[in-house]
Amino acid sequence: MQVISNPEQMRAQTQQWHRQEDSVAVVPTMGQLHAGHLSLIEIAKTRAKRVVATIFVNPLQFDQAEDLARYPRDLDADLNKLQNLNIDAVFTPQTSDLYPEGLDAAPRIHIPLLEKEFCGRSRPGHFAGVCTVVAKLFNLIAPDIAVFGNKDYQQLLIIRQMVQSLNFKVTILSGDTQREPDGLALSSRNAHLNAEQRALAPQLYQILSEIPSKFQLEQIPALEKSSIQKLEQAGFRCDYFAMRDAAHLQAISLNTTNIVVLAAAWLGSTRLIDNLLFPRP
Ligand code: PAF
Repeated sequence: MQVISNPEQMRAQTQQWHRQEDSVAVVPTMGQLHAGHLSLIEIAKTRAKRVVATIFVNPLQFDQAEDLARYPRDLDADLNKLQNLNIDAVFTPQTSDLYPEGLDAAPRIHIPLLEKEFCGRSRPGHFAGVCTVVAKLFNLIAPDIAVFGNKDYQQLLIIRQMVQSLNFKVTILSGDTQREPDGLALSSRNAHLNAEQRALAPQLYQILSEIPSKFQLEQIPALEKSSIQKLEQAGFRCDYFAMRDAAHLQAISLNTTNIVVLAAAWLGSTRLIDNLLFPRP
C-alpha cells in the first residue's frame, strides 16, 4: 500500500492506473477508522481493481474551531488498519496541499436546497465544505467509483446531487451503517462520550426503530413530536427528528416509495446523528 500525501503524485498514480485500464474506487474519510469505514472499503474492493482510501480532516467543513481541534486523529493506527485490507494507496494530504490559497480564499461548492436543512441548519457551511473537498478528491483521483456511508444520509444525497449537477463521471455507491451490538451507529465521535453518555446513546437508534411500525401519513407531525419528547426525556438535547421522502428529503407524499427518519441529538457536547430507511407502508 502506497502512502501518498502529495496531490500531484496522487494524480500521477491514478493516471497511470487509468492508462492501464484499471478501474479506480475511492473511499473518502477523515480517519479514526472504524468498522463502518472498513465495510465501505470492502465494497470498493468488489467494484474496482484499484482502491484508494483518503484520510483528511477537512477544516472547510467544520463550523466550530473547537470541534475541528478535538476531532480524533490517529494516522498510525489508521494506516495499520488499512495495511491489513490490502488496498493500493492511501492519500493523506495536508491542509496546505488541498487549500494552498488559504481557507478563506478557497472556493465553495453549494447545493442550494439540500444543504440548508437538518445538519446544514445547525452547521452552517458544513455541506459546502464537504462538497468542495470531495470535488477536489474526485478531480485529483478521477475515480470510477466512490463509496460513502448511509449513516451520513443527507451528505450522501448532497454528493449524489453534486455529481449529477457538475457532470462528474463517477458512480456513487453507499454502504449500510455499521452498529455496535446495542445499536449505536459507529462514529468517530463516539470516542467523545463518557461512560454515562455511552450508556444512553443507543436510545437514539431505539427511538428511530419504533417509527416504521407506528407510521401513518396523517400522524407524521405527532410522531415526530413524541419522538423528540422521548429523546429529551432520555437525556438528549434534540437537534432535529424528521421523516422525509428518502429520494430527495422533501415531505412524504402518496408518491413516496421509501421513507427516511433522520435524527441528530446532543449528549453533553457530543452531537450524534443517525437515520433509518423503510418502505412506505
Ligand atoms: O463523511 C466524512 O467523513 C467526510 O464528510 C468526507 C466525505 C470524508 C469529506 O471530508
